[in-house]
Amino acid sequence: MSSDQDEVTPHAAADAAADAAAPAGEAPAAVAVLSAEDGTLSRRQVLVGAGGASLLAAAPAPAAAALTRPQRQPAASDGTPEQVHLTWGRDPATSMTVSWASPEPAVKPRLHLAGPGEHPRMVPVVLRSYTDGIGGEPVWTYHAQVTGLTPGTEYSYSVTADNDSAAEPFSATFRTAPRGRQPFRFTSFGDLATPNTEWVLSYGQSAYAVGAVESFQPLFHLLNGDLCYADLNPAVQPQVWRDFGNNNQSSAARRAWMPCPGNHEIEFGNGPQGLTSYLTRYTLPDNGVPGFRGRWYAFRVGSALFISLAADDVVYQDAGAFVAGPQPLTPAAGTGNPAIPPGTSFYIRGYSGGAQTAWLERTLAAARADRSIDWIIVQMHQDATSSSATGNGSDLGIREAWLPLFDRYQVDLVLCGHDHDYERSFPVRGSDSMVGRDAVTGAPVQTLRPRPVTTTDSGVVDTSQGTVHLILGGGGTDAPLDSYGIDQSDGLRQAKVFTRPNRPAATSTPDVFARAGADALEDATWSAMRDTSTGYGIAVFDVHPGEVRGGMTSITVRYFHAPGADPVNPATGQAGAPTPDYTEFESFTLVRRRCDG
Ligand SMILES: [Fe+2]
Repeated sequence: MSSDQDEVTPHAAADAAADAAAPAGEAPAAVAVLSAEDGTLSRRQVLVGAGGASLLAAAPAPAAAALTRPQRQPAASDGTPEQVHLTWGRDPATSMTVSWASPEPAVKPRLHLAGPGEHPRMVPVVLRSYTDGIGGEPVWTYHAQVTGLTPGTEYSYSVTADNDSAAEPFSATFRTAPRGRQPFRFTSFGDLATPNTEWVLSYGQSAYAVGAVESFQPLFHLLNGDLCYADLNPAVQPQVWRDFGNNNQSSAARRAWMPCPGNHEIEFGNGPQGLTSYLTRYTLPDNGVPGFRGRWYAFRVGSALFISLAADDVVYQDAGAFVAGPQPLTPAAGTGNPAIPPGTSFYIRGYSGGAQTAWLERTLAAARADRSIDWIIVQMHQDATSSSATGNGSDLGIREAWLPLFDRYQVDLVLCGHDHDYERSFPVRGSDSMVGRDAVTGAPVQTLRPRPVTTTDSGVVDTSQGTVHLILGGGGTDAPLDSYGIDQSDGLRQAKVFTRPNRPAATSTPDVFARAGADALEDATWSAMRDTSTGYGIAVFDVHPGEVRGGMTSITVRYFHAPGADPVNPATGQAGAPTPDYTEFESFTLVRRRCDG
């Protein structure tokens, strides 16, 4: 795509800065500033001022629940912290990253942190900014990587700047992860959007979804890609991100929200993979792969390893930013970026050249060789096992690249989004060959259909025998996809599968292009449960480490859904509206033997 190539030079700076930021667990000696100058990005270093030290004594111990603040008159430039969110550092038991943004450049942005009985200490802040490649708006973000914390301990913090217009600094608390085989809870969904219905795909449920996370008080939350759909609102991408960040803040400022990139994080004009906005806003655990920091990563909590993948690197489906036409997408003049012609899509399959899959195999092999790790849980956006009829369906690219590794290293659980619904697979291992068929011609097609190791749904799954996949795309978009495939000839569950790229094709309307749906079909023998009553929900996971060496460990999974939230219920045709009421849809238990026997 020619315009993307034109973007490589300026945005290489943004990615380089993201890669060059101080590694998690290592306090930066300087404040790194990535700034927009004359429409191009450059990077410079600014030493931390000694003035920060005098702020320590003045900073009050933050209140535990002070998430709302009275406002006072704004300063000439507004460095007020907003979009505050937490992500785990290298070791969730001892490190945390606090990130935020401000409407305009902050003057002396700073974080103060205190543990139980401690005086607040100041933590160095890394500044990162970029200029949106379509609208031309500069974005300012700040990242404080806190290390040396005590496991399982509550900390309070505040963030502010000299030009903070709030009456009091923003303050909140968080808790570090426990060390060793300890119980903990996490939650998950994807496809969140924002509550501002001015934006494409945004919907009021996204506010209730954030409230749902808080209601379960997890140690952390997994946000499975397609965060806010800014790419579908290309002229105003930073505004959409801002509404997203401010909606999430009521939870994400109190506990880590760990994201993975989805197809809607791929934005025109924003870097070689379109991920500059995502990478600038999030500081994620280092994957150690030069040039690809922040795109995929792993972290460990208790006896579980969490692996977050960037599936756009392997999927066949073309679902990134797209100009359908008939008009080109014309960036603001100040960006210097050329118009993007109709029929252009931002397709990034294969961008890591196999580096991600190699990293995944190294990471899985190390985890299964580690007798202190029982559980391996993968987060990614797109799906290997989805039978949504109105959604995208499954993707052969994941089945080819990663499912053999999940089999070899006994990945227990895979959490996804992409289709805005809930679907659970039976435990799967291996694949059935050549059982798919072309959606148009009916000719046999290789879909590498995952093979269920059992189709008995007892409510207890031994994941050492097979991997369970969950589709959790019911965050809060206005487009639920909880209508599922049925093979009309035999009444069996049916899934669509992408087995080749669906690149844009001309339509009968001049200068208007479209991307086709999945090209293949298969009987979804792997599908165990589908929620037909609503597309919205949240999964809650309670990890029980077990009592004895070599004994059993388990994860209790409960899926809560929000009936009535669908704008139109596909089963009944009944009109619905956003709702705060989440009720339990199903629960089941994953078990496996501990690795310390
Ligand atoms: Fe998606």
